[in-house]
Amino acid sequence: AGEQTRSVALTFDDGPSPYTQRILDTLQRGKAKGTFFTLGNQLAEFPFPLQRAVAEGHAIGDHTWNHADLTKLSPSDVKSEITDQASGVQKAGIPRPRLFRPPYGAFNDETLRVARRAGMLTVLWTVDSNDYKATDPAAMADAVLAETRPGAIILMHDGGGNRTVTSKALPLIVRGLRKRGYKMVTVPQLLISNPPPVQQDAVLRTPVA
Ligand code: NI
Repeated sequence: AGEQTRSVALTFDDGPSPYTQRILDTLQRGKAKGTFFTLGNQLAEFPFPLQRAVAEGHAIGDHTWNHADLTKLSPSDVKSEITDQASGVQKAGIPRPRLFRPPYGAFNDETLRVARRAGMLTVLWTVDSNDYKATDPAAMADAVLAETRPGAIILMHDGGGNRTVTSKALPLIVRGLRKRGYKMVTVPQLLISNPPPVQQDAVLRTPVA
């Protein structure tokens, strides 16, 4: 996003999972809002954390049904990966996602077109916590804090593996950001209150053909 305000977005991919509740507890304590890019295939097993996330003011995005690399799929399979997740979320009683993040950050023109036709904005990130390979929560938190600028979108994971390090780093990140005067808001809040410069997001503005 832009640099008009000291606000950033914490984002969590690949859940919901057994770690999601702990992440939500930390966000609640820190008065921070997050955005969860969830997988459709996790919804049946872990519907509650998602419902809680929505009730507590967090945003839910689409991260496909199966965490597929969409650049390797046929257009119709890309479409079902995205829309099946959205329908699953809706069936769990949660508003249909309006944000989409492609697994592995892998996308092409077709991916963007399908997401846009499904009424979704494609959102990547500007700070990668590298939490999937982190071993030390304090080091992970320090690296995230060092890279964060106003308007940052920070990538973390609440699912897809053992997220103990992420769970332990998050309280340090929330505290560190607060200390630096940052407000932690959802991606929609960030884009509304602190929009990116027009020339910055050429990809996201690609018109549907
Ligand atoms: Ni992912």
